[in-house]
Amino acid sequence: MSNQFGNFVIGDTATANSLPILKGSIGPDAVDVRSLLDKQGLLTYDPGFRSTASCQSAITYIDGDKGTLLYRGYPIEQLAEHCSFDEVAHLLMHGELPSAEELAGFRKDIRDHNLLHDQVLSFYRGFRRDAHPMAVMVGVVGALSAFYQDAQDYSKDADQQKAAIRLVAKMPAIAAASFTYSIGRPIRHPDNSFDYSSNFLQMMFGKPSEPYIVDPVLTRAIELILILHADHEQNASTSTVRMAASSGANPFACLSAGIATLWGPAHGGANEAVLTMLEEIGSPENIPNIIKRAKDKNDPFRLMGFGHRVYKNYDPRAAIIRDITRKTLAHLGMENSPLMATALELERIALSDEYFINKKLYPNVDFYSGILLRAMGFPSRMFTAVFAVARTVGWVSHWLELKQEGHGIDRPRQLYTGPAQRQFERK
Ligand code: CMC
Repeated sequence: MSNQFGNFVIGDTATANSLPILKGSIGPDAVDVRSLLDKQGLLTYDPGFRSTASCQSAITYIDGDKGTLLYRGYPIEQLAEHCSFDEVAHLLMHGELPSAEELAGFRKDIRDHNLLHDQVLSFYRGFRRDAHPMAVMVGVVGALSAFYQDAQDYSKDADQQKAAIRLVAKMPAIAAASFTYSIGRPIRHPDNSFDYSSNFLQMMFGKPSEPYIVDPVLTRAIELILILHADHEQNASTSTVRMAASSGANPFACLSAGIATLWGPAHGGANEAVLTMLEEIGSPENIPNIIKRAKDKNDPFRLMGFGHRVYKNYDPRAAIIRDITRKTLAHLGMENSPLMATALELERIALSDEYFINKKLYPNVDFYSGILLRAMGFPSRMFTAVFAVARTVGWVSHWLELKQEGHGIDRPRQLYTGPAQRQFERK
């Protein structure tokens, strides 16, 4: 019998009966296939890793069928309601919510490390002004690998912690500078009289000629965006960071690889693509046509901000963002936003359509976040950069976890489908 590739044969059915089963604290058990190749001469085949647990992790848990997301055991809804971003960052990086004293120490560490080295600032001038902020971030974060020679023994806990803090502390300045450089405005430095989220906003939107006035509603909106995007277990960018880290690579280089992966429209680039799509739709009467295109097998178009590899239910982050988007638009006097009206109607129509119901396609985190970010003044090219600022906490948490468990190099195998060995013969 030949399979879809047509050029190799499916042999006897293998069973996993003789393999050990590993139990997590919650969620599906995992078949431990590590001995399979040695004992049975078999590999496992799982392109896209849909059924593969690539590692053990104690950071984030998702139940895609129920639409549950837990950071270190806490439901995302509770963290979004009660926490500041730095509390959530501490939780993800260190496993527990901080005491008042621990939080003060964590905030001090962030303040101590949030400035960019003057030579880092000179890298920006090497980029074209119209460069995509994610292209700039890939370059600048990778370039940080050349700095901090004082603390580069990453087998030591102290150097691991310092690199992790440096990344979380500097990322808002790196992202904001990629925006201010693109519009020709002088780069604004962090101001330690602001908290983490307000500091990001003042570096993005503050003018050197005027004091920045904090708007608590906007600060809370960006804080929620950062909390909701902070981690999402073994997604493509986090898996990339872990894979790069498994070789012992420099953490700044590992994060640069994560940023590159996040940029793709199937991952973090989707929020930018959602806004483009909503603008193209223009008004609710054009929605049926876009739904028709999304369902057409011969059209590569997909409804952006819909569907998820893991969630087969409403993404809990999307529900929180929809709510904060409504509140922020009202605060800004934009309650009649045509983009929001189109998005709400698109969601209503898609969720009552057999195609989306049968395939369990629901709005994901990116569906409303672009509308919110746009209303706050972020240009669409910065949306994924904001996601990268948030996800830095997740990436460094996974990097720390991997370093602490002494993980060896990742090296997947393959099901080879090329020619068998043959004799050289010139044509
Ligand atoms: N619009 C229309 N059809 C879709 C969509 C969509 N957005 N998403 C999936 N499908 C269909 C797909 O055509 C396929 O149909 P069939 O079984 O007939 O071939 C079926 O649903 C399953 O699709 P899949 O590609 O196997 O699903 P996946 O789990 O690999 O893809 C996804 C997940 C997020 C890449 C995909 O849903 C998608 O491309 N969505 C749009 C992009 C997007 O919003 N991405 C952000 C993801 S959330 C942010 C993050 O975590 O980074």
